[in-house]
Amino acid sequence: MSNCSEAELIHMFKGIPFTTRSSPELLKSLDAFDAREDDVLLVSYPKSGTHWLAGVIRKLYDTEVTITSPIEFGDISKLEELNNLSSKRIIPTHLDYNMLPQNFKNKKCKTIYISRNPKDTAVSMYHYYRDNPNLPTVDTWTAFFDLFLKGNVVCGSWFDHFLSWEEHEDDKNILFLFYEDMKKDLSKVVKNIALFLSLNVSDKDIQDICSKSSFSEMKNDTEKENSDPSHTVCALTSNRKLIFRKGAVGDWKNHFTPKQNRRFEEIFNEKMKLSKM
Ligand code: A3P
Repeated sequence: MSNCSEAELIHMFKGIPFTTRSSPELLKSLDAFDAREDDVLLVSYPKSGTHWLAGVIRKLYDTEVTITSPIEFGDISKLEELNNLSSKRIIPTHLDYNMLPQNFKNKKCKTIYISRNPKDTAVSMYHYYRDNPNLPTVDTWTAFFDLFLKGNVVCGSWFDHFLSWEEHEDDKNILFLFYEDMKKDLSKVVKNIALFLSLNVSDKDIQDICSKSSFSEMKNDTEKENSDPSHTVCALTSNRKLIFRKGAVGDWKNHFTPKQNRRFEEIFNEKMKLSKM
């Protein structure tokens, strides 16, 4: 839990709450970002499986690639740092489609969007708010539930984020993935990612990647490593050990009251009425 005040941790940019670890100067300058045609973007709303996906992708390449820290994370020096990278860049981001630097859109960079049942995302984010010193304090699940539904959490409304990307679902350069599909049949999803990224990977390699990407393997690896706070694939992370909590589908059932569930469904149905989800 944090000792800092909310104002020290959060600032608003274009109506969306960001942590102060994403500087306003960097956010303002993102539109000048120079994308490369072979950049790959990993996009997610927080707590949707970003680290899992990044772990899989890191293992899929046998050539030199760099998984950078998120494009919106850090200060203004970030743009130069990314410009100076000579290897292929895999760039994570929690930005919604509207805030994504225009250059990525013009160059039609390959983009993978991972999504997760928003009820489980909310629960995962609640625990993250409680454990992560870079996020404001929330006292109870009930208080967080309200903040989440109003979009008063880092990265704003889950619904707005998802809808902004879903509008581009048919773009050939965007692959949509679901956390739940990865849980159900990881090798199928990994094959799909390899195909999308035009990578030649044998069935044996796929099996190997899947076993090394299980929740327990990834959690163990993280516990062994010396975490470097400046290397993260999520702009909210200070400590990778906080990421691997339960890794389950349906944990929302242990948190939502029947009344909260009804309220969530009502808002979901209203906000998502034009969605294909
Ligand atoms: P829980 O808090 O529900 O456990 P992100 O990487 O976007 O921050 O998402 C974190 C969520 O993904 C956490 O969910 C975490 O446990 C889960 N996760 C991370 N690695 C995973 C894996 N290998 N298998 C399943 N879930 C994983």
